[in-house]
Amino acid sequence: MNIIIVKDYDEVSRKAADLIIEQIKQKPSSVLGLATGSTPVGTYKTLTNALKKKEVDFSDITTFNLDEYYPIDREHDQSYWYFMHTNLFHHINIREGRKNILNGKAEDVDQECKDYEAAIKKIGGIDLQLLGIGNNGHIAFNEPGSSFTSRTRLVDLDESTIQANSRFFSSKDKVPGKALSMGLGTIMEAKKIILLATSEKKAKAVRLSIEGPQSEDVPASVLQKHTNCTFIIDQAAASLLKK
Ligand code: F6R
Repeated sequence: MNIIIVKDYDEVSRKAADLIIEQIKQKPSSVLGLATGSTPVGTYKTLTNALKKKEVDFSDITTFNLDEYYPIDREHDQSYWYFMHTNLFHHINIREGRKNILNGKAEDVDQECKDYEAAIKKIGGIDLQLLGIGNNGHIAFNEPGSSFTSRTRLVDLDESTIQANSRFFSSKDKVPGKALSMGLGTIMEAKKIILLATSEKKAKAVRLSIEGPQSEDVPASVLQKHTNCTFIIDQAAASLLKK
């Protein structure tokens, strides 16, 4: 695992955007795995600005998002479809048909998940996967207890995740209790992984993921086994690391 500790949120965003731009320059047809949540918003803004300055071209990339609430309409202002379009896709020159997001209204959930896995496989896998981390150590919506070999599937959200994400909804009972999520096994097949974490709220999950034993109680600890995984974290998120 590579660990890059920088000063604050803005520096995390800059560093993450730099690595994504470098990836796209090396391989213009890169397949990117993308995350939602508060953490990557600054990265997406930095990428949007880089396009304006002609530092990057997104016209050949393909993306796969990690997860989507279930059930949820894509037009709902808290759907991850809506999030991705508002924060990134509307501002960059990614082509139609190249943005893959799990369908939060799928009638046949198992088929939806199988098709998603098949689409990732068909394109040759994910070149660079961007991740955030939950306060409880989840990545995507793989909550504590998820199998390290899990694949894309319907999952129940942890009570603590529903609580944490209720900040975006009018009330806690409006947060969907389930989600479609790539599995830990799916994520581990990405060729490169970048995990972003900022603020002291993430410090315990960051410490356990990096320095704790590998355990399904801390889903992000699976990343210790990955051969090309970089954590980009701010000083607050790094504050409980021993080394
Ligand atoms: C989002 C996702 C989640 C978030 C995590 C952190 O697609 O997969 O695992 O990365 O919940 O969320 P924030 O960044 O809002 O703290």
